[in-house]
Amino acid sequence: MRQNMYFSALTIIFLSLLLAFSACKGKSENKVQETLGKGKTTMTLEKKEFGTMPDGRKIDLYILTNTNGMKAKIANYGAILVSLIVPDKNGKPDDITLGYDHLKGYLKETPYFGATVGRYANRIKDGKFTLNGEEYQLAQNDSDNHLHGGTKGFDKRVWDASPFENEDSLGVKFSYLSPDGEEGYPGNLSCTVTYILTEKNELKIEYEAQTDKATPINLTHHSYFNLESQGSGDILDHILYINAERVTPVDSELIPTGEILSVKDTPFDFTSPMAIGESIDRVSGGYDHNFVLNGEEGTLKLAARVSEPNKGRIMEIYTTEPGIQFYSGNFLDRSITGKSGKIYEKHYGFCLEPQHFPDSPHHPEFPSTILKPGEKYLKSTLFRFSTIMDNS
Ligand code: BGC
Repeated sequence: MRQNMYFSALTIIFLSLLLAFSACKGKSENKVQETLGKGKTTMTLEKKEFGTMPDGRKIDLYILTNTNGMKAKIANYGAILVSLIVPDKNGKPDDITLGYDHLKGYLKETPYFGATVGRYANRIKDGKFTLNGEEYQLAQNDSDNHLHGGTKGFDKRVWDASPFENEDSLGVKFSYLSPDGEEGYPGNLSCTVTYILTEKNELKIEYEAQTDKATPINLTHHSYFNLESQGSGDILDHILYINAERVTPVDSELIPTGEILSVKDTPFDFTSPMAIGESIDRVSGGYDHNFVLNGEEGTLKLAARVSEPNKGRIMEIYTTEPGIQFYSGNFLDRSITGKSGKIYEKHYGFCLEPQHFPDSPHHPEFPSTILKPGEKYLKSTLFRFSTIMDNS
């Protein structure tokens, strides 16, 4: 009897030790996995299923990861940047763009989270323009105006994707042929948008297009950033610098009036870094304006720099474009539940969209947005990430 009791006690102790050991082992194996994930010695490119279109087409998510732990996830639906994971000042990665976890979010109403916007970013007044003596009527999807390419712009199209790898970068080239007449635009326009992630924590986006009839074109990238982490709060404490001494004022429908005004002594003066929230109350409705970038169109130049004081991330944007639209997420209103169940409130994200000026087809004084047959549309934008630790 006594022997039996000893035996059972020993068995219990032995089993407990075994359980404790396997729990520890599990934990340390997880740890090893995490470490491997962070300190990868090579960049990786994976493809995963993202969802299915109502017509049955499968949509993929391309996941680009560099060895510093930066990760970009891009869908071939809309060539949308679904997620951008960037390490903070302590090396901890967070997703810094707003969006949805699943394709179905993007298929519903979306305020262009992470989108590739085309054929024409921002507004064209009354959705019409005249080109070579012919009047074109575009889709009117923002009261009487045309916004971000119309009812079914490039952000709602399925693109062909070809991933590629270079020595110190990898990427995906997305292609789309926009047929003559689509959303009212003239000409068959063949476009490619290439996302490239580098080892220097840069995400480059390169745009190319050709047409067989003259057409306006103005492609941009429309991520909503929060450099602290997506869904974590508003962006009013982010410090913004914009390399622009002039801005194009807008009317009550957010259409440029045609004037080009100096930012000096106005709430638009970001030539010295300023918190986004500092003067926002002096801008009716919040920032939603095109800034005229200093420097030459066509050369890659610094357009903006944003830093977030808490997690210490810094984002610099370089572009060949002549303008950048700064939108302070004014229309976010708690109606959207985004990634990880986060509810997006007003000013929870900001967009900095390198582009040509809105409504250029009505403003011959603005840089031209007309692409003619035989010409090649070539633009690029680069988002470069660092932290306050790199600069201290
Ligand atoms: C425009 C805003 C618009 C937002 C979402 C921005 O690019 O400037 O006016 O509300 O996109 O559509």
